[in-house]
Amino acid sequence: MRAATSRNYGTPDVLTLEDVPRPEVADGQILVAVHASVVTQGDRRLRAADFPGFTALLGRLFAGLRAPRHPVGGTNFAGRVVAVGRGVTRFAVGDDVFGSVGHGAYAEYLTVAEADPVAKLPSGLDYGEAAALPYGAVTALVFLRDVAKVQPGERVLVVGASGGVGQFAVQVARALGADVVGVARRNPEALRSLGASRVIDYSVEDVTRSDDRYDVVFDLVEGGTFRRYRRVLAPRGRYVSVYVTLRLLFEMVVSRWGDGPRAATGVAMGTAALISDIRDLVQRGALRPIVAGRYSLERIADAHASLENDKPFGSVVVEVRPSAPMAERPEPARLAG
Ligand SMILES: NC(=O)c1ccc[n+]([C@@H]2O[C@H](COP(=O)([O-])OP(=O)(O)OC[C@H]3O[C@@H](n4cnc5c(N)ncnc54)[C@H](OP(=O)(O)O)[C@@H]3O)[C@@H](O)[C@H]2O)c1
Repeated sequence: MRAATSRNYGTPDVLTLEDVPRPEVADGQILVAVHASVVTQGDRRLRAADFPGFTALLGRLFAGLRAPRHPVGGTNFAGRVVAVGRGVTRFAVGDDVFGSVGHGAYAEYLTVAEADPVAKLPSGLDYGEAAALPYGAVTALVFLRDVAKVQPGERVLVVGASGGVGQFAVQVARALGADVVGVARRNPEALRSLGASRVIDYSVEDVTRSDDRYDVVFDLVEGGTFRRYRRVLAPRGRYVSVYVTLRLLFEMVVSRWGDGPRAATGVAMGTAALISDIRDLVQRGALRPIVAGRYSLERIADAHASLENDKPFGSVVVEVRPSAPMAERPEPARLAG
């Protein structure tokens, strides 16, 4: 089967197309004919071995010390189930599914355990749109719902609202019943249409000097600190950042002692339950992916370059195989290849 591989860490041109063996479905697994994947900041970090701060070494231990341990990248997918292993009950051949994996989605076929983060495609989405969901929506759900425990009526500030996670964070916070303010330089109108009541341009206004108070600050920008945002946090406010720094880990521990605002960080990992929650949010109209561009698998390097250079508003989709429009979806792909 065709797959995009990277045998070394580096710039987008380390990505090349190769023929690799198709994975065999095992007990408890499904074999997915992948139709679409996406390029995320997570994929970029894995390709370039660009792990921030003190996670540089940890990242390499996880991803491969000198070169990628798993040459086929791609961590989000949507496609069609073409075979099921023994014992699988949630899925059948012909089901359209989407989800996230550790690696392997930049390939024509992918095996996924039934218990992994995978669910049936929400109605009304094409494969590219569905593949665009897990990265940003899982991160937003984990940090806002599960870590910050956003409550209806609370005020949430999303710093980095126009990015790959931020667009979903605005929608998830709104779905949790919060009043959402976004900090972004670009696309204020689009962010308002996603649910932000206000968008603050960080090149014009320093939000940390404002007199407004927030119950939750969700920080998606490198270099932000709890100390910096503490001023704008409500007395029981929570500062949550996607950047796991030693400083923030220290602030997280220290802030537990008092009654004041708290700091938290962590790593969002997809689960079957989270993907199912995302599906439900899409089905009830609370969440929608935005696709900024579509690239064929042959142009995977251009897709990665686009994420880095164009700062797209929305997801960069990789069409692993050409997909027919929704109404004319093909019969399950044959297993040849
Ligand atoms: N811990 C975890 O589990 C986890 C999970 C997912 C992602 N992440 C990390 O989260 C980070 C964000 O991911 P992403 O996909 O959203 O990245 P992204 O698409 O690059 O978005 C970052 C956004 O931040 C904005 N920005 C830059 N400086 C800013 C500032 N001073 N104030 C406000 N906004 C600012 C940028 O807007 P402009 O271009 O207009 O400047 C951009 O839209 C990445 O580093 C990623 O690796 C961590």
